[in-house]
Amino acid sequence: MIRSFGERFGAAAGVRVFRAPGRVNLIGDHTDYNLGFVLPVALELATYVAVAPGTGGKLRIYSEDRQEMREFTAADAGWLSRAGDWTDYPMGVAHELAMAGFGIEPANLLIRSTVPEGAGLSSSAALEVSSALAFLNGRTVNGQSMRPLDLARLCQRAERDFVGLPCGIMDQYISVFGQEHRAVEIDCRSLGHRLVPLPPGVTFVAVNSMVKHALSGSAYRDRVAECAAAVSVMHAESPHVESLRDVAPGQLAQAAHLMPEIVARRARHVVTENARVNRFVDASLSGDLELMGRLMIDSHRSLQHDYQVSCAELDFLVDAALGMEGVLGSRMTGGGFGGCTVTLLRDEAAGRFRSQIAQAYHRQFHVIPLIYSCTPSAGAGEVKNFEIIPARN
Ligand code: GLA
Repeated sequence: MIRSFGERFGAAAGVRVFRAPGRVNLIGDHTDYNLGFVLPVALELATYVAVAPGTGGKLRIYSEDRQEMREFTAADAGWLSRAGDWTDYPMGVAHELAMAGFGIEPANLLIRSTVPEGAGLSSSAALEVSSALAFLNGRTVNGQSMRPLDLARLCQRAERDFVGLPCGIMDQYISVFGQEHRAVEIDCRSLGHRLVPLPPGVTFVAVNSMVKHALSGSAYRDRVAECAAAVSVMHAESPHVESLRDVAPGQLAQAAHLMPEIVARRARHVVTENARVNRFVDASLSGDLELMGRLMIDSHRSLQHDYQVSCAELDFLVDAALGMEGVLGSRMTGGGFGGCTVTLLRDEAAGRFRSQIAQAYHRQFHVIPLIYSCTPSAGAGEVKNFEIIPARN
């Protein structure tokens, strides 16, 4: 990357490289913006940004994937508005940094990523967080560096307010707080987390359906609005209810007749999914593999039928996986309408599973799915001497 940076921008002293990972969510989807629980792992797949101070007041950003160079005036970062393309992610972050008092300095940035786009593995959060670290480039304001939680929240704001997707905190949070060998259970209300070791003898594999249906953005907004509608009905009944996080499954069943049926089903997904995350964590800690698998399947069915964010390709991948040897559970992961499934299976079955699922999917859809192992990796930080120094140090 440093060589490539030199070819693009001319040799520069003090080039630094920052990395931020993508993620796969093991269980707990569409719960984060309802202030509930999620259980993602940070992946080895990551976005890397090489950065060095620039000249002429300019911010120059080169994307290796797009082979495109874009130029901005660094001092304008606070006044920028959305362009409707890939630059919205780094520039949304630059904008939020400027608003937060971390002025944007002239710089050259080169972006390289191994996180596939549109695969539901959070390439956008990886780009946001790695860009934020590059813009900050180790800087402090009044002697303070940005706290990791503030970094995650700032990147979420870039996506929500600048890019315009009303997302929760999961993707940016796990990109910052990921840990090797651990899943991270995030409480999206307190914004605290707990590191969860995964049982030995099993592995998680993500299978990319290679589709991203156009519906995903608008359907996401609809779901956010439907959940808000459920909250306002519940709040009128029980004033302590501020989000679906505050609703127990039994309580929802009693109030369901007060809401449109579709709204009640959306809410049922969220409240049962929160409970599944907590049970999954307990099952993982006690090594109850069968229960982990069953909870993943229940989660998928809930996303498929109640939340209706799955699609034919994801359902096929889940159903096909469940018929294969050594598979304990499988579900769609992330926002839905395409992207990946995540499958829990016994270690020794992994090799065969990869070839069987690829063949089955190809027979059905004439597309070869890409398959990724979900080895939990470290969260965002600087890459130094081939080691990743986490942002939180
Ligand atoms: C997308 C959003 C996240 C989360 C998931 C669904 O990845 O960015 O905030 O809502 O969908 O769990």
